[in-house]
Amino acid sequence: MRDADAVAERAAARVIATLRSAEATTLGLATGTTMAPLYARLVAAYRAGEISFRTACSFNLDEYAGVAPDSPGSFHAYMRKHLFAFTDIEPDRTHIPDGTARDITSEAARYEALIAAAGGIDLQLLGIGANGHIGFNEPGSDFASRTREVKLDEATRLGNAGNFPDSALAPERAITMGIATILEARSILLIATGREKAAAMAAAIDGPMSPACPASALRLHGDVHILCDEAAASALASRPGDGIRRRA
Ligand code: F6R
Repeated sequence: MRDADAVAERAAARVIATLRSAEATTLGLATGTTMAPLYARLVAAYRAGEISFRTACSFNLDEYAGVAPDSPGSFHAYMRKHLFAFTDIEPDRTHIPDGTARDITSEAARYEALIAAAGGIDLQLLGIGANGHIGFNEPGSDFASRTREVKLDEATRLGNAGNFPDSALAPERAITMGIATILEARSILLIATGREKAAAMAAAIDGPMSPACPASALRLHGDVHILCDEAAASALASRPGDGIRRRA
C-alpha cells in the first residue's frame, strides 16, 4: 500500500467491520507507533457514531515489568491516551497484563485464563519489531510459548526508550502473550510501515519459519492479513501490488 495512512485506513476498516459483525467482539490490541494512526481512526469512527465499543472486550499483548499502570511509559497509559479515554469501551472489559504483579508467573497464568474465559480473541492486531518480534516475543522465542515474563533485546529497549524520558533504554523485562497465545486468535491483522520494518517483513514472509524470526510463526495460522506500506514491503521477494494477502 502507498503509505502509513493508507495502511491505517484499511486496518481501521477491518476493525470497524469486525466490531459491527457481532454482538460482542474480543479484540487483541497492540501498542507502538504503527498502531497510533489506526487508533486515531477508530476514535474518529466512534465520535462519528459509526461504531461503539460498549459490548467489546480487549486484551493487550504486553506490558513492561515493574512499570505501574499510571506511569506515562506504560502500555496502560498508551492505551488510555490513544483509544480507551476517547471511546465507550468499558474499563473493566479492557485487559492489559499487570507488569507490577509480584509473581509474574501467576499473573501470566491469570491472563491466559481471562482470555480463555472470554472465549478467545476474535481479531488480534499486531505490529512487528525491526527484529521480527511480535508482542514482546523476541528472536529465539518458542512457537509454543504462552504468556510469560521475557527479557527484552537491547534494540527493542533502545527503540522504545522515547516513552521513558529519564532513561536511554526502556525497561529490561516485560510480560507478553506468547506466540502460541497469539496464534489462538481466530483472525490476525499485522500492520507494518516504514523502511526499518522491511528486513523483518522479508524474514517473516520469505525467510525460513524459525524462532529467529518470531513473526514467521504467523505462517502457521490460517487467517492472517498483513498490511504493509511500500517501504515495509520493499524487501519482499514478491510484491503483489496493493497490500499482501496470503494464506498459510
Ligand atoms: C506492542 C508490541 C510490539 C510492537 C512492535 C512495533 O504492544 O507488542 O510488538 O507492535 O514493537 O512497534 P512500533 O509500531 O512502535 O514500531
